[in-house]
Amino acid sequence: MAYHRYDAVIVGAGGAGLMAAIQMAGKANIAVVSKLYPPRSHTGAAQGGISAALGNTEEDHWQWHMFDTVKGGDYLVDQDSAEVLAREAIDAVLELEHMGLPFNRTPDGRIDQRRFGGHSRNFGEGPVRRACYAADRTGHMIIQTLYQQGIKHNVNFFDEFHLLDILFTDDGECCGVIAYEIKTGELHTIHAKTVLIASGGYGRVYKITSNAIAGTGDGVALAYRRGIPLMDMEFYQFHPTGLYKLGILVSEAARGEGGIVVNGEGEAFAARYAPTMKDLAPRDMMSRFIYQEVKEGRGIDGKDYVLLDVSHLPPEVIDEKLPDVTDFARVYLGVEPKNEGIPIQPTAHYAMGGLPTNNNAQVILDPAGTVVPGFYSAGESACVSVHGANRLGTNSLVDLVVFGRRAGRHMLEEIQSRELAELPANPEETAAKEIADLLNRDKGERVADIRKAMQEVMMDKVSVVRNETGLLEAQKEIADLQEAYRHIAIQDKGKRYNTDLLEALELGCMLDCAETIVHGSLVREESRGAHYREDFEARDDANWLAHSMISRKDRGFEVQKKPVKITIFEPKERKY
Ligand code: FUM
Repeated sequence: MAYHRYDAVIVGAGGAGLMAAIQMAGKANIAVVSKLYPPRSHTGAAQGGISAALGNTEEDHWQWHMFDTVKGGDYLVDQDSAEVLAREAIDAVLELEHMGLPFNRTPDGRIDQRRFGGHSRNFGEGPVRRACYAADRTGHMIIQTLYQQGIKHNVNFFDEFHLLDILFTDDGECCGVIAYEIKTGELHTIHAKTVLIASGGYGRVYKITSNAIAGTGDGVALAYRRGIPLMDMEFYQFHPTGLYKLGILVSEAARGEGGIVVNGEGEAFAARYAPTMKDLAPRDMMSRFIYQEVKEGRGIDGKDYVLLDVSHLPPEVIDEKLPDVTDFARVYLGVEPKNEGIPIQPTAHYAMGGLPTNNNAQVILDPAGTVVPGFYSAGESACVSVHGANRLGTNSLVDLVVFGRRAGRHMLEEIQSRELAELPANPEETAAKEIADLLNRDKGERVADIRKAMQEVMMDKVSVVRNETGLLEAQKEIADLQEAYRHIAIQDKGKRYNTDLLEALELGCMLDCAETIVHGSLVREESRGAHYREDFEARDDANWLAHSMISRKDRGFEVQKKPVKITIFEPKERKY
């Protein structure tokens, strides 16, 4: 058992974690713990851009960005947070540029900007160029840039350490984490004044997803087990254009550059549903349009997919601005996008829900906003909430740099004003028992079987369109899978690189996330953003203009409502 003491421990080395680390580097003693080698973090998979109202290619204003974010989120967005996001995006993007991020350029040398779904000029009049980009590898460039900065600033990286537990004092202060060293199987207690969970989302709960294998919700689930409520878990975004059957992301930038989605009759159907924004309608809507086309028999050859067509774009646009996504189509589907449409279907992409936080990325415990001392979250693991019921494309990258930066700055203040809290007695007890149980059980259920069943039920019953019957079935099935999980056995009993054990731990976390998605979806009897109930088709502001905060209580769940902060934009029906 190893013991370490730091001012701050950051769990996750994606954009949010690294951005926070860079704020504190040289000013506090910090550790970044990641189950991956940092540049492999899922931020690196983000493709099309990061929005900021720079106005480099056409008029734009942060107020327009804020409005689009609020409307895109179907008015569930906390507007004070959206204002922070849209205002600070400008400076955050320039900070990335100054760190060396190689953005695409306009002919006169400024950061180039492209169109993206739901981003509009003058409060909804039509598309605007707001997404700053580096071809279709924007996240890759961000993660490389931030990691280089982390190395330059001598950040202490604990690479390939898996989070097992989050530690709290009896008074509810956060005081560290327990991590498992993947190379040796050793447990590490990392005692710290402040902890930031920046461990990303949980898209792997679904069968078809754009998420990396590592997207298993570890930080979110472990906090939930320690009594932290999760917010807005029912809002899970499906990105409309994932490669058919594989889910690999084909960036919205393809449509931003002029690509269109066509059905089996060759019709560019988005214009029928969203006459102003057409193919650049927000993701929740585009995914539902595709669902509807397929349901009414207008998929390609009557099947469950449609085509993303970029074949009419100049070949140099494809080669220079969309090189990776068009290569994915070639490599994985054998399709040449310069000549033919790319088969696509909606793919599970992004968690709008997560650990509830305030604008300083401090985790809060209840609808009144009571802060958990020393405990922070930023990026996809957090719900601040700037995405509300449906995130706009590019705003995840904005979120993680803006709120990662805010987290780092506020942690620094807290480090200077607070003593190190005492660890609980036997801090590693829960984690050590969990590992010992898994290693000692010889016979039991198979991890792969439970994972497959979970991914299928989530895909079939808790995805783009939901209803009570399906959700009740999903709830029962997830509960049965939770029970089966208590009896799993793994084959590898070793200490070095025991991926069998890691997959088992990750499955436990995914099941916890899944149960909250399902329960949140059952309770919210309305349709809003990415949560579409065919048995409650209307948005219900009278009862549900509120965030949900879900906790485990007495073998069941408790759901509390937290009011949405509305500062400027009164809720309206969304039209695009
Ligand atoms: O479509 C995309 O390039 C994805 C961007 C995002 O999720 O923000």
